[in-house]
Amino acid sequence: MSQKMDPKVFRDLSYGLYIVTSRNGDRLNGQIINTAIQVTSDPARVAVIINKKNLTHEFIDKSKVFAISVLVETTPMTFIGLFGFKSGRDIDKLSKTQFKEGVTKCPLVTEHSLSVLEAKVVDQIDLGSHTIFIGETISSEVLQDGQPMTYQYYHQTLKGKSPPNAPTFQAVK
Ligand SMILES: Cc1cc2nc3c(=O)[nH]c(=O)nc-3n(C[C@H](O)[C@H](O)[C@H](O)COP(=O)(O)O)c2cc1C
Repeated sequence: MSQKMDPKVFRDLSYGLYIVTSRNGDRLNGQIINTAIQVTSDPARVAVIINKKNLTHEFIDKSKVFAISVLVETTPMTFIGLFGFKSGRDIDKLSKTQFKEGVTKCPLVTEHSLSVLEAKVVDQIDLGSHTIFIGETISSEVLQDGQPMTYQYYHQTLKGKSPPNAPTFQAVK
């Protein structure tokens, strides 16, 4: 990390916790992200930041579609562990999860989710280790009321960690 950057400042930035999914033909996959944001309102566009090593990156890059599920605060750590610490290269995560098919044919994870949206990639920026995929929202649905999981709640209350592939990863010194 740059000497000019105090890591505490990065830790003060706030995020939510989401599952981003995509597909490659009939193959489905998804992973945890904290880096989902709305970037414009008209048209309604969202961005996600994905590590190039992840299978989800390969799927979004090929299909140019992705879906986001907003996780509820009561999401169990086992569920976050499945999507955030295991790769679809080793395990079929969607076979262990409730989802429905979206109009893009991306899986919309309905388990532990407050709401879902689907997007078509309209632009992408190569950041070296990661890519920012910018997508135009083409469907959205509220599934239930509830409190969204925040990154702070995940770290401070659930004592969760971030793996090296997360853009916000900070090595413990
Ligand atoms: C709390 C948390 C936040 C994460 N945020 C991101 C993120 O924003 N971008 C990213 O590429 N990976 C992030 N990850 C890591 C991926 O979820 C993880 O590398 C996953 O195993 C990739 O799965 P895949 O190979 O099946 O795509 C995060 C993981 C956790 C637990």
